[in-house]
Amino acid sequence: MTSPLFTKDTQAVFWNNNKKAIQRMLDYDFIISRVKPSVAAIVHPTGQSSFQKFFFGNHEILIPVYLTTEEAVKNHPQAEVLINFASYRTAYNVTVDALRFDSIKTITITAEGIPERLTRLLNHKARIAGKIIIGPSTVGAIVPGSFKIGNIGGSVDNIIRSKLRGKGCVGLVTKSGGLFNEMCNVISRRTSGIVEGVAIGGDRYPGSSFAEHLIRMDKYPEVKFHVMLGEVGGTSEYKVIEAVQNSNITKPVIAWCIGTSAQYLSSEVQFGHAGAKANAELEQAYAKNNAMREAGIIVPEKFNLLPKVIKDMYAKVLRKKQSDIAEEVEEEVISPLPEDFNEAFKQGRIRKPTNFVCTISDDRGEEAVYAGVPISRVALPDTGYSIGDIISLLWFRKRYPKWATDFLETVLKTVADHGPAVSGAHNARVTARAGKDVVTSLTTGLLTIGPRFGGAIDGAAKYFKYGLDHNFTPREFIAYMKEKGIPIPGIGHRIKSVKNPDLRVSELKRYARENFYDTKLLDYALKVEEKTTAKKGNLILNVDGTIGVLMVDLWKGLKYKDVEINQYIEGGTLNALFVLGRSIGFIGHILDEKRLNMPMYRHDTGDVLYKVSMAEEIK
Ligand code: ACO
Ligand code: LMR
Repeated sequence: MTSPLFTKDTQAVFWNNNKKAIQRMLDYDFIISRVKPSVAAIVHPTGQSSFQKFFFGNHEILIPVYLTTEEAVKNHPQAEVLINFASYRTAYNVTVDALRFDSIKTITITAEGIPERLTRLLNHKARIAGKIIIGPSTVGAIVPGSFKIGNIGGSVDNIIRSKLRGKGCVGLVTKSGGLFNEMCNVISRRTSGIVEGVAIGGDRYPGSSFAEHLIRMDKYPEVKFHVMLGEVGGTSEYKVIEAVQNSNITKPVIAWCIGTSAQYLSSEVQFGHAGAKANAELEQAYAKNNAMREAGIIVPEKFNLLPKVIKDMYAKVLRKKQSDIAEEVEEEVISPLPEDFNEAFKQGRIRKPTNFVCTISDDRGEEAVYAGVPISRVALPDTGYSIGDIISLLWFRKRYPKWATDFLETVLKTVADHGPAVSGAHNARVTARAGKDVVTSLTTGLLTIGPRFGGAIDGAAKYFKYGLDHNFTPREFIAYMKEKGIPIPGIGHRIKSVKNPDLRVSELKRYARENFYDTKLLDYALKVEEKTTAKKGNLILNVDGTIGVLMVDLWKGLKYKDVEINQYIEGGTLNALFVLGRSIGFIGHILDEKRLNMPMYRHDTGDVLYKVSMAEEIK
């Protein structure tokens, strides 16, 4: 291989839905002007969706999500890299599974903590399968200007600062991912940057070694020298020495093995990585530094001198006047990566007008609140809050006194049901018998509520209030409504009448008389009723009408202004009481049908007067 591990066309299958890491790859794609997203597919075995949305520059793209690697590979045979972001528990199985796919050439393993026995087995299988493994416990690899794995290189700012967008001359290998970024930074300040970089990972048995990567990079014409950052523990630096001695690595290698302080510490000290522990004298950092120095590798006296050594080497390379080395990396103008909206918003750098205003509840804190009152303070019986209180909080943003919340509850209980024959219950039952679900059947029942059935409450409140506000006598009021051509909402009933009084109405009236400050509008409506029932016995003040006028009396008692009352009435607030209460009954009827498992209902044709004549033909 005489060219870097990845190209601008390289694509990966990303195992695990790690949105941040994937987005970072795609952001990198944007700043290096890639045409194809570097992530072709995501494998997410527990995922629900078949696509995941990401930004590619300033527009969004969908990346397909699969349940298995097999599916992803089958659908994206061009993807050569598997980025294994599985946890240490599954990383082994995911990697072994991926080894069987010809199209996958390189596998990176992020997980830290895979048992060493399994890692060795894995490495063995990978060698047989001819795959390059980077990791475990790695941040990955990068070929600046072409492709990067996951989070390597850090933030976009860091990537730009560290010249990780291309045109470098150094081959870089490290163990650690954090120090990889640090080395990129050091190298970028003294040279034109790196050509390729690999963090082999901090485990004791990495899937690929320093030597393997350096031998490969040595063959790239654009690599002029190498930098290697090893660490205490393990012997892989000795393989590099061997490769230098065997002329498998021919270009200068600058190296340093960190952890030289380990020799001054008591034995058995393990640094951050699983592999960063010297099990023998030759695994000590100072011993490896000495051995490398003796073998002709450029090892500075101390770590602090590494930048200077790199700088000197670059100067030497430049002196050779190698045409493909850029003396000064010209700062190309790149369009800035669009900021993530949520992040920028959180930091207060941008503002946006809201589309909705909510004044009744808030779910942003630790606990959602109803008009400022946390749910836990209203939910249980011992809180003293009733359903009437919850309605007053969420519908009216006030906590009403008990006589008023008791009235709201009385209304709900009163209208909860009126048997199976009323329009809405009938429709709900017919719908349930047609095999429809509870929500649909309930909705059918609710849609029946209107000016004639159950939905006359707002109208009653509106018109009776209008009549009283305008000092109409009952006779004038009836005449006014007649002139308008509107049956008085809240007057009339199909089966209830003077002779067969609606006891629901009697009880509501009794409650109001005993508990309200005043029942002025009720009294007015009853005077109207005297006149209408004089005409016809069923033109009583019905349950809708009674609720409507009493709600106005209630609000007046709570000192609501006329304008507020009118606003609530116009908004349909009072019919909502019927909707809420009657839903209880409709649901009961629907469940009854389901329980009885009655067949589909078809109306008796004998109950229909058919009068169909031949349609007139219009010529
Ligand atoms: N205002 C004035 N006159 C009325 C009203 C009314 N609200 N309702 C009926 N009438 C008159 C009719 O104009 C008709 O007069 P006519 O004989 O001189 O022609 C006569 O009474 C009979 O009318 P119908 O429509 O046959 O009366 P019905 O008993 O069928 O109507 C109904 C009952 C639908 C409730 C009707 O009274 C009405 O529309 N009322 C207003 C709406 C209303 O309040 N609905 C809620 C009912 S309660 C509930 O659903 C929970
Ligand atoms: C009801 O509460 O549904 C009724 O008053 C209507 C009816 O027809 O009985």
